[in-house]
Amino acid sequence: LVAFTQPKLLAGRRVVITAGPTSEKIDPVRVITNRSSGKTGYAIARAAHEAGAQVVLVSGPTALPAPHGVRRVDVESAADMHAAVMAGARDADLFIAVAAVADWHVANASGNKLKKNASNQPPALQFAPNPDILAEVARLPDGPWCVGFAAETENLHEHAQAKRQRKGVPLLVGNLAQDSMGGDTTTFVLFDDQGIEELPKLSKTDAARRLIKAIAARLPRKA
Ligand code: CTP
Ligand code: CA
Repeated sequence: LVAFTQPKLLAGRRVVITAGPTSEKIDPVRVITNRSSGKTGYAIARAAHEAGAQVVLVSGPTALPAPHGVRRVDVESAADMHAAVMAGARDADLFIAVAAVADWHVANASGNKLKKNASNQPPALQFAPNPDILAEVARLPDGPWCVGFAAETENLHEHAQAKRQRKGVPLLVGNLAQDSMGGDTTTFVLFDDQGIEELPKLSKTDAARRLIKAIAARLPRKA
């Protein structure tokens, strides 16, 4: 019931959200991925929908059901996620990048399953950088208002402020990976040009609702 009584702070807004990990192929049966349950991104997608937004959730592989009322686009690799986001970003009012995107893909991925050979040498994987989806969307002329995330293991404030500026986004949400990863609670720290706002430790559902309120308060009015 609480879900239906949330204020419609994002009524009429189009929102694109990324969530979950990406999965980068080594060969047809092996991948390299990031640790992400998708719970935070999905909670934010639900909170945005509750707030009246039209939500597209671009999701890497997770074990979670699609949130009610949200259009989910399933992707695997960072390249897939990049393509799905760029297809919708230009028309969106708001982009929230929550996904744990792999920074690299395997440049010499094999079309066939790699086999152990007689000498039992592991394969020499070569990595190539993935596109930075958030930075690219943030640079779009007339693009959506952008919110980034940073899960750090140390020096959260320093890393998060630097990341906010490097990505060119007005709002960046930091959390400590060890406080949040895989669990049902999280502690958000909001970084914007006014400074820092620390939210208390909350369920991911409540943290997501607080974040949507903080975003709605900052989002420029519709022209
Ligand atoms: N992000 C993205 N595309 C990428 C990498 C990151 O959209 N290829 C987004 C994430 O969804 C997150 C933000 O950028 O919102 C920060 O991601 P993070 O991995 O913390 O930052 P990086 O710039 O990749 O720096 P590093 O991994 O070295 O900390
Ligand atoms: Ca990264």
